[in-house]
Amino acid sequence: MKITPQAGKTLGASIEGFDHAAASDDDIATLKQTVYTRKIAVLKGQDLSPKQFLELGKRLGRPETYYEPMYQHPEVEEIFVSSNVPKDGKQIGVPKTGKFWHADYMFMPDPFGLTLIYPQVIPQKSRGTYFIDMGRAYEALPEDLKQDIEGTYARHSVRKYFKIRPHDVYRPISEILEEVETKTPPVVKPTTFTHPFTGETVLYLSEGFTVGLEDANGVPLDEALLRRLFEATGQLDDEFTHPGIHLQSFEQGDLLVWDNRSLIHRALHTTAPEPTVSFRVTVHDERKLYDAESPAA
Ligand SMILES: [Fe+2]
Repeated sequence: MKITPQAGKTLGASIEGFDHAAASDDDIATLKQTVYTRKIAVLKGQDLSPKQFLELGKRLGRPETYYEPMYQHPEVEEIFVSSNVPKDGKQIGVPKTGKFWHADYMFMPDPFGLTLIYPQVIPQKSRGTYFIDMGRAYEALPEDLKQDIEGTYARHSVRKYFKIRPHDVYRPISEILEEVETKTPPVVKPTTFTHPFTGETVLYLSEGFTVGLEDANGVPLDEALLRRLFEATGQLDDEFTHPGIHLQSFEQGDLLVWDNRSLIHRALHTTAPEPTVSFRVTVHDERKLYDAESPAA
């Protein structure tokens, strides 16, 4: 196993010669450490069946199966499928997922630490995923903004980007929204927390899922504060030129593992739709999102 940090970038490392079936426990620990410090590890030359992909995921942690069945792989339910390519005339998974800034499962009570993406059909023109490291983004905030969010909490919800399912057709929108609120009620987490593996302070919010900030008593804070945070971290930059935005490219055989605590991500916009299919496995590592006793920076 050979680890090479991506040249000229603050994020990313490329890993050659990784075989999940042959890897020792030390190899796995080294891989995870690379993910926590470089935030994205690109495992090169992977050739895995869906079952093998899940086995690889299991070496890193406990898989979390996506709560909405329409995203699940027909044979391996732990795999989340993003696809705009019908298989045998049938839609498998969900097209156009994640075209907004988010961390996976941010709107859930217990988000997992690691996301694994294994691209299957790779677009020729627009390929890649945008990332923002919210640990670095916190560091770069102006002091007054850091002070304004100290001891505050953020409220997250899936409501803005919940995708209508086939069986929702002909249902009143109010009924669907009510179901979303009941099944996945908003969750409140500290606006910043200490990363349990690196000790960094992570600014945990995203334009896609964060719907408001509040003080320790649950009193909502001015919406302008949340907007300033989105702005400062590059999440409102439609040109993707903000210095905090990293475009991670990939090629056939690459399998990406990233730190879902530190990073928010967003699917690359494509003007002309190209066939795209990717599989995702998400796993809980040994720790919660943050240690309960040290939520704030
Ligand atoms: Fe995602």
